[in-house]
Amino acid sequence: MHTLEDISSLFENKFYEPPLLIQACGRINIIGEHTDYNDGFVLPASIDRHIYFAIGENGSNECHFHAADIGEECHFSLSDIKKSEKAWANYLMGILQQLQKEDIALEGLDVVFGGNLPVGAGMSSSAALEAGFALGVCSMFNLQKSRRELAQLALRSSHEFVGVPCGIMDQFASLLGRREQAIKLDCRSLHYEYIPLNLGDYELLLVNSGVSHELANSAYKDRVEECATGVRAIQTAYPGVESLRDVTFDQLEACKGAMAELIYRRCRYVLEENERLHQAVEAMDEGNMETLGALMLRTHEGLSKEYEVSCRETDFLVELAKEQPGLAGARMMGGGFGGCTLNLLRKDAKEEFLKKIKREYYRAFSTKAEHYELEVVNGTDIVN
Ligand code: GLA
Repeated sequence: MHTLEDISSLFENKFYEPPLLIQACGRINIIGEHTDYNDGFVLPASIDRHIYFAIGENGSNECHFHAADIGEECHFSLSDIKKSEKAWANYLMGILQQLQKEDIALEGLDVVFGGNLPVGAGMSSSAALEAGFALGVCSMFNLQKSRRELAQLALRSSHEFVGVPCGIMDQFASLLGRREQAIKLDCRSLHYEYIPLNLGDYELLLVNSGVSHELANSAYKDRVEECATGVRAIQTAYPGVESLRDVTFDQLEACKGAMAELIYRRCRYVLEENERLHQAVEAMDEGNMETLGALMLRTHEGLSKEYEVSCRETDFLVELAKEQPGLAGARMMGGGFGGCTLNLLRKDAKEEFLKKIKREYYRAFSTKAEHYELEVVNGTDIVN
């Protein structure tokens, strides 16, 4: 855990120059889970959990990265960017590699980073790494790129260098988030609109299961592949279909016999989740928190039973939350297999809620469930 000031002074003590400072945001997602890589819709927001970067040019061809929170370093030459066994370093190197692919001439960089965005909690620390660094490098070298282009560049880096077949939600949310608003993003066209987060007497609260299961990466890839398998089966009857985004419920039903039952369930979840998102936006417009909460609960049910990306711990947290007074809805958030649950809770019920959840969770798993109160803030930016 480091503050912006910590990161800045660590940099100066190491490299003897005042750095460029960047604050990169984590994100929540209100609804629309596992829809982004299916060209669907998502509803994320950037939050006040940050990774802070201090960056300086060093006039050489060498890069020196220092991950302050975990006390690790990584040094390499710009003429020899190859995958590191340090996972965090790849998120940064991949950005540089993408810029090199565009024939952009770079110079060596010194980088120190750290912050208060938990890793493995489903709040997208990896996208914050990519987003913050991409923005910093562009500012350093005066590269004219829009935030949308930076999100796309970070996505290519995740796919091509890091090797994660993720969607664009996290990078987009980190870079384009806005104070007290969620982003309704069409992941196909990248058209987006801001939806005010008027939650009335309610607030959003994260509860961290504290687990991050091994399965997360391989299962994520499996889901991406399963959706693609579903699309191929549907394309035989409906050649115009390019992704699950294009599929109607009737078309899916008509093709049910042409795919394994498991693939059918995965596809149906995605179709339903896109539909839920539109209903959720309507509920938010009307200030109807009960409906929004009910939709979140249905999403959890789908993620757990149909899409099968939840786990015992996050299921437990949601089941327990459901029984508590003042709760409108709760669900696991992000890729799955651990991380946080997102709870839509009446403000006056918070104290009792947390007491109960923490006590029962510890009894069940001998693990402390941390919670995060969050503010939706402007996305990743240079600190002046
Ligand atoms: C991870 C990925 C995102 C998205 C979510 C699930 O956070 O990085 O692209 O697919 O999982 O909604």
